[in-house]
Amino acid sequence: MNYYIGIDLGTSSCKGSVVDKFGKVYGSHSVKYGVGNPAPNYSEQDPADWYNAAVEILEALSKGIEDDIKGVSIAGQMHGLVMLDENDRVIRPAILWNDGRSEKQTNYLNVISETFEETGNTAFPGFTAPKILWVKENEPENFAKCTKICLPKDYLAYMLTGVFSTDYSDAAGMLLLDAEHKKWSEKMCGICGMTVDMLPKLYESYEITGKLKTEFGLKNAVMCAGAGDNAASAVGTGTLKDGDCSISLGTSGTVFLPCDEYKPGAGKVLHNFCHSNGKYHLMGCILSAASCDDWWTKRILKTDYDGFTLEKAADTGVYFLPYLTGERCPHNDVNARGAFVGLSAETSREDMCLAVYEGVAYALRDCIEAGGVSVESAVLCGGGAKSPLWQNVVSNVLGVEIYVTETEQFGAAMLAMVGCGEYPDLISCAEATVRKRLAAVPDKDIHEKYNKGFETYRKLYPLLREI
Ligand code: XUL
Repeated sequence: MNYYIGIDLGTSSCKGSVVDKFGKVYGSHSVKYGVGNPAPNYSEQDPADWYNAAVEILEALSKGIEDDIKGVSIAGQMHGLVMLDENDRVIRPAILWNDGRSEKQTNYLNVISETFEETGNTAFPGFTAPKILWVKENEPENFAKCTKICLPKDYLAYMLTGVFSTDYSDAAGMLLLDAEHKKWSEKMCGICGMTVDMLPKLYESYEITGKLKTEFGLKNAVMCAGAGDNAASAVGTGTLKDGDCSISLGTSGTVFLPCDEYKPGAGKVLHNFCHSNGKYHLMGCILSAASCDDWWTKRILKTDYDGFTLEKAADTGVYFLPYLTGERCPHNDVNARGAFVGLSAETSREDMCLAVYEGVAYALRDCIEAGGVSVESAVLCGGGAKSPLWQNVVSNVLGVEIYVTETEQFGAAMLAMVGCGEYPDLISCAEATVRKRLAAVPDKDIHEKYNKGFETYRKLYPLLREI
């Protein structure tokens, strides 16, 4: 029997699953870790935590079937800056995708024309290039020691295989890739004070990059290049064709739209990246999605009760702005902050819980409308997708049918299956392994109420920005 391991290197935890080629899950294991916030807007992690978690996961999942593991692949939190010295030691904690320290460097990258011309993307503080410039300007001693720069999942793969590699979907989020021609941009590297030879070798997500080091005991396992976590989730939900859409409610929230062609025009507002299927995708990203629900229900209310209904949809007069960690799309503002607006003496706990779900859904709609794209229907994924109420809120705010997967999501493992030749391509792999079901259908009256609510929601950020 052949088994495949997919590892998801997330922000709050690292999760792994071992599956067969039909998508049957034989085991899962996850390890939690923390995020360091040493200063306001800073978000960092120690790459050693990722490595220790991944080794524990590989051991747990392969016990007794070591020789049958044929392929491993990693989906990773995107954009994180990992810097290594000449002995491959980590120079400083990794600066994560939701870190906002590089506002000044981001503004500079958006003033010069090369950034958009070379990469087809607007710069955001979470992206890797502005963070490289920040280290160059603020920690010159660290910058001087740096000989290699890579993304979180690529650091992990390097430590597991000894091969310094990345894939196009994740590389595009560094703002150092000429995504159209799929090669590193010498110009962008020069602007960041570095050279192309400091970057990993580029692969398609499903291509084999090497073998696991012998110390892990998986002597028949190859490593495939893997993908950024959103591209991997899109694989796991079968979102692979032009016109498909997946929406993720994880720590961040994303609207992911595969495209057959490179679409730089949309890259002014949305991200214009490569997809794991060898083509492209557009993506709107909000920095806080399921994390808003976590914050509100677990940290503030200290409960995880989710028994509310849609009865009062768009009717409570309460609005929630989900900018708890600043906002990426469409505002590009690290200083944006969350807010409840419209509270009254009648406002209930339920009203505020519903407002949190609605605020996240409005923020996703804001990305879609600002990006000038349309969504016909969407597959919902990520932790927040499990809530039937949230499925319905998203469906009614966007006015589209929402599907969820019946099977567990294992996009990274699917990349390894294709890399190892179990399927000729990702589409046939998804057809054989991913099952979806219709979870929510929009109601005409509720959708109309939400159209009005969205108009009000959109007025709030410009009004509150001043304060
Ligand atoms: C996407 C992004 C986030 C992270 C979360 O651009 O920054 O979705 O990938 O892990």
